[in-house]
Amino acid sequence: MQGAYLLSSFVVLALASSFVSASDPDPVQDFCVALNDSETGGLFVNGKFCKDPKDVSADDFFTYGFDVVGNISKKLGSAVTAFNVEKIRGLNTLGISLARIDFAPYGLNPPHTHPRATEILAVLEGTLEVGFVTSNQPDGSNKLFTKILNKGDVFVFPVGLIHFQFNRGDCNALAFAALSSQNPGVITIADAVFGSDPRINPDVLTKAFQVDKNIIDYLQKQFWEDNNY
Ligand SMILES: *[C@@H]1O[C@H](CO)[C@@H](O)[C@H](O)[C@H]1NC(C)=O
Ligand SMILES: *[C@@H]1O[C@H](CO)[C@@H](O)[C@H](O)[C@H]1NC(C)=O
Repeated sequence: MQGAYLLSSFVVLALASSFVSASDPDPVQDFCVALNDSETGGLFVNGKFCKDPKDVSADDFFTYGFDVVGNISKKLGSAVTAFNVEKIRGLNTLGISLARIDFAPYGLNPPHTHPRATEILAVLEGTLEVGFVTSNQPDGSNKLFTKILNKGDVFVFPVGLIHFQFNRGDCNALAFAALSSQNPGVITIADAVFGSDPRINPDVLTKAFQVDKNIIDYLQKQFWEDNNY
């Protein structure tokens, strides 16, 4: 009896795990070119609705402008230009996207996470200090993995983990990144915590960050600007 129970638990677990995926679900068609959200009458699915395959053309899998330098003259001195399903509708259901990241001298792509994607980044120009931090470990620590990357170097940021890239040099830097989702999402830590709309109750942040309330008030009054385009 107990054996049967164990076996059925195991079957349930095995079935459940087959529905859990670390990246976007696999397609069940050759392609599913996304329709505009505005064309689907306010209906949403986990992804996008597909265009009729007979109306699909090469242009649905095409875009341009990857050579355009992003606007790095803002506060952070970095600009992420995403080539995801919003830009290339043929990416829908394919579980992949691309980004170009430009850095001014000492520009920073600040600590952020992609809730839905692992990222692999290649440096084309300049020297970047990069790193990611693990989730909370059993001993209470969060381990930092960090590295200085030069031209031609490649680094991986595992899905969901907080990471950053900082231009260490006094020249511009350029990196390309591939991400394992058609729509990786970005949560910029400082923007989300201090710049949310509406703001989080300052008592919450004062306690969480264990600082004087003035510091939280100051941080919440800043203009938190995103560097993703
Ligand atoms: C989809 O929406 C974008 C932005 O609004 C627009 O430029 C594009 O022409 C639309 N595509 C179609 C097929 O309607
Ligand atoms: C770049 O950003 C700066 C600062 O926000 C702004 O003044 C400027 O117009 C932007 N340049 C372009 C080309 O969008």
